[in-house]
Amino acid sequence: MEPLPTPAEHPDGGHLPQTILTPLTLQYHQRVPIRHFQFPSLPTFTAANQHLLLASTLHSPLSRRYPPAAAYARAFVKMLVRKAEEYAPDGEVNERVLETYVGLLQDGNGAGGGGVAAYAVGDGEVAYTSYAIPIRGEETPAGIDYLTLREETAKISQGTTGLVTWEAALRFGEWLIHTYNSDNTSSSSSIPSIPPNARILELGAGTGFLGLLLARLGTAAAITLSDVDDGVLDRLRENVAINNSPSSLDTPRVIPTVERLDWTNLNKTHLERLDPTHIVCADVVYDPLLVEPLVGVLQAFLALRPSPSLKIRPIPRIAYVALTRRQPATRTLFMDALHAAGICVTTVGLSSGDEKPPEWFWHEPGCGEVDLLVLRRG
Ligand SMILES: C[S@@+](CC[C@H](N)C(=O)[O-])C[C@H]1O[C@@H](n2cnc3c(N)ncnc32)[C@H](O)[C@@H]1O
Repeated sequence: MEPLPTPAEHPDGGHLPQTILTPLTLQYHQRVPIRHFQFPSLPTFTAANQHLLLASTLHSPLSRRYPPAAAYARAFVKMLVRKAEEYAPDGEVNERVLETYVGLLQDGNGAGGGGVAAYAVGDGEVAYTSYAIPIRGEETPAGIDYLTLREETAKISQGTTGLVTWEAALRFGEWLIHTYNSDNTSSSSSIPSIPPNARILELGAGTGFLGLLLARLGTAAAITLSDVDDGVLDRLRENVAINNSPSSLDTPRVIPTVERLDWTNLNKTHLERLDPTHIVCADVVYDPLLVEPLVGVLQAFLALRPSPSLKIRPIPRIAYVALTRRQPATRTLFMDALHAAGICVTTVGLSSGDEKPPEWFWHEPGCGEVDLLVLRRG
């Protein structure tokens, strides 16, 4: 966890209340697009405060270690310059802010040619996103931790959709945080939450957001992140390593493992060996051709016999599928296939940002409704 600076700690004497600094910092680390960035109107934005904001964002240890794409860094500092011109006494722009901006314009990564540290990776390269998550039971800014993922900036790249985190995963993540913050009881009593002794399997894990979030929330005995694409599997291993690096002060309790699991070529022995008690997945219902194989995996999972070690009090097997309402025909195909497989479905609406803004994970407004399907053996 990277402690957020308090005004008193900043050498320039900058002073921004945490209620202003924290949301700005969290939006920056999650790379909220600048056109959607919520920048409060400030009574004043002194040069010292501009420096303080730069120190908490682009120049922070977290951002230096896991930088944004150069284009994002440039747009962010440009916004700071504009805000300084708007709110600073006499429109004074802090020297470091200007220097950083010029450096980013000159060589793309903010090094400025003067041998100072780079603040961004080159254009077109893979960059990092850090999602703020609460440390359980603490509501203060100091109780914030970060889940850092190496992600692409384009939704589809290297021939796969698995190198970015999709909206359904973010909203499911929001639901998981609320569930765990309310002492593991789901807000809707009919929806069981994941118990701490669960063995979780994530299907079509992509960047691994869900599984790594669950690992960080410390809610499982074992977590397996699975996917089919070689590039995605490599990225999953990298993201596991990032979040288990010695620099991370709050080491996750469980280190997820990464395994190839192809829905179109299910090996039942593999599933029996993993013996998951819970499956989680997000945005995996998008290709009509994959609906049947995916339902096959879910059906085989729900039909697994209680494992010998759990005979005394077996944990009921449950699958959670978060899906964005995108293509009604594919959704209908999926629902019909679940029904035909004798799987019981409970649907929970994960409200859209327009009705209830997300508390933790920003997502593109108007990206559509997301449902969480909770699947049990019929
Ligand atoms: C839209 S992405 C969603 C990624 C992630 N779950 C998220 O929500 O951010 C779909 C994922 O399903 C994976 N996938 C597609 N076909 C698959 C198959 N036959 N077996 C396993 N995973 C598959 C893709 O590689 C990709 O990572």
